[in-house]
Amino acid sequence: MNPNQALWEKGDFTRIAASMRESGEALAKSLGVTRGMKVLDLGCGDGTTALPQARLGAHVLGVDIARNLVDAGNKRASDEGLTNCRFQHGDASNLDGLKDRDFDLVVSIFGAMFAPKPFDVAKEMVRVTRPGGRIVMGNWIPNDPTLVAQILKISSAYTPPPPEGFVSPMTWGVEGNVIERFGGAGIPKEKISFSRDTFTFQLPRPTAEFVAAFRSYYGPTMNAFEAAEKGGRAAALQQELEDLFAKHNQSKNREATLIPATYLRVTAVC
Ligand SMILES: C[S@@+](CC[C@H](N)C(=O)[O-])C[C@H]1O[C@@H](n2cnc3c(N)ncnc32)[C@H](O)[C@@H]1O
Repeated sequence: MNPNQALWEKGDFTRIAASMRESGEALAKSLGVTRGMKVLDLGCGDGTTALPQARLGAHVLGVDIARNLVDAGNKRASDEGLTNCRFQHGDASNLDGLKDRDFDLVVSIFGAMFAPKPFDVAKEMVRVTRPGGRIVMGNWIPNDPTLVAQILKISSAYTPPPPEGFVSPMTWGVEGNVIERFGGAGIPKEKISFSRDTFTFQLPRPTAEFVAAFRSYYGPTMNAFEAAEKGGRAAALQQELEDLFAKHNQSKNREATLIPATYLRVTAVC
């Protein structure tokens, strides 16, 4: 199987996504979505941003490499009676079957950044966006001190080195790389803008339980624990993550988790 698909189907990202609903909704509201707009949500997971955009009246197609998340997204949309939101399996590196210049808005929040072949990803996002339409990406930033960049950094320190030629997803969090990739797809740098934004993870459980959810359900952390277990370092990894989550928790209630994380917001106009 495609290793990228295997990574994201390995766990159950819906368990993490449950902590992302409020920020997902706020982010969707900031996208300028209007009724009838045609939106592609790429690397959509179970619909953290896709469902709120559909609630605003957009016609949303969610595409994700993980079939379990596509099923979960379709179930959430159908449970809510959102007939203008559907999910299908696909790979951001090759959006075969999606028409050229078809979408008013292509959104990818911590999604397409995880696909291999970033230049192909940029080309595909540009190909399916109509002239004058927008692409909005949310990308974690390498070496950023906040939660997710640190989880991925710590996890990679316990995981065997990736194969030769592997391009880290975190490179999408570097403005120069984004300009180069969209440039390769025909978008000049004057049409690309950047801002730093905050996404907050929220759940009514203590941070230790949030760490446990990452250990059991989040592909990259699951792999790190598997490798750490083989080397007898799982307890050290657990401790590093528990310390990290506790340090960043801003909840006044010790039984709850409220952790903001910084990301790079990219807007490209086609
Ligand atoms: C961190 S999750 C974010 C999900 C969702 N956007 C959210 O904010 O809840 C990353 C998502 O990207 C998807 N993904 C990874 N590689 C992909 C690819 N090549 N094509 C499409 N989706 C991909 C994963 O399956 C997963 O759902």
